Amino acid sequence: MTKVAGSATARAHSNIAFVKYWGNRDQGLRLPANASISMNLADLHTTTAVEWNSGLDADTLTINGAIANETARMRVENHLDTLRARFETDRFARVDSRNNFPMGTGIASSASAFAALTTAACAALNTTVSERELSILSRLGSGSAARSIPPGFVEWHAGDSHETSYAETFAPADHWKLVDLIAIVSREHKRIGSSAGHETASSSIFQPARVASAAERIASVKTAIVGRDFESFAETVEADSNLMHAVMMTSKPPLFYWEPLSLAIMEGVRRWRQDDKLMVCYTLDAGPNVHCICADGDADAVAIRLRDLCGEIDILRSGVGRGAHVLPTD
Ligand code: PMV
Repeated sequence: MTKVAGSATARAHSNIAFVKYWGNRDQGLRLPANASISMNLADLHTTTAVEWNSGLDADTLTINGAIANETARMRVENHLDTLRARFETDRFARVDSRNNFPMGTGIASSASAFAALTTAACAALNTTVSERELSILSRLGSGSAARSIPPGFVEWHAGDSHETSYAETFAPADHWKLVDLIAIVSREHKRIGSSAGHETASSSIFQPARVASAAERIASVKTAIVGRDFESFAETVEADSNLMHAVMMTSKPPLFYWEPLSLAIMEGVRRWRQDDKLMVCYTLDAGPNVHCICADGDADAVAIRLRDLCGEIDILRSGVGRGAHVLPTD
């Protein structure tokens, strides 16, 4: 039953959500409680090489050149088990994964990691898999990985089954020149990862209200992106981030991801938009780093203000990225 298999390398980009995913209606299948919207980040990516090898008796994993810990290896092995079952192979794989950005700092390394892993693993099996199925399969590794498969501005349809929960592009990467300036408030590995966080989301009394109103925010953010309406975009993106963090802070146990500096930046961003008329808004994932989403022409002015406010601070910068893709072999 083993198919002829080989090796392939794929790259997938991280993504930043404008309407967030938090909480699952089906934990095992990672069917999200609500649909979400994101853009891929061109300059933050994971490059993963997969080699299906009949000489191996277990999957191996290196991350950034070092042997990964057993927790990470097991998560990859579980994902490869799904792919082995789907594509009917019994081979194990050698996986080498490299990020060009720091892991565990609220920048979704699991999204680009599982999108790159799935894309490379399928390509190495010499099998043709549609973009939709790659998104569905990536979702099983990490929910937000579903959104790193298609290019540009993406909607992840919540769906009500394994087959109907996938992401697709609604505007191409070159549709709107947005820039994400990520203010690195902390490089520490986050204490509570998003997988554990999704499990406690429903313990907040605010989660039902957030989920019930998500469709409205999806419609509003999509319209704003399609019409390049920054003012409307900014209002909804900030409100959605605040709503998700309100759920996090009121879950049992509560999750506080913001640091004092995160809040100072959030206040600064609103001031720069209102008083200085800069096109910038903020959004935060499961970590303290602040994603300052700017119109391309205002990004330099925002970076100067971030440095004035925070002093020595690392800022990552990225435009809108393409979808996951297989890299040519040399
Ligand atoms: O895909 P996960 O399990 O890492 O969850 C990501 C959750 C957030 O980043 C906080 C929100 C989102 O929609 O990306």
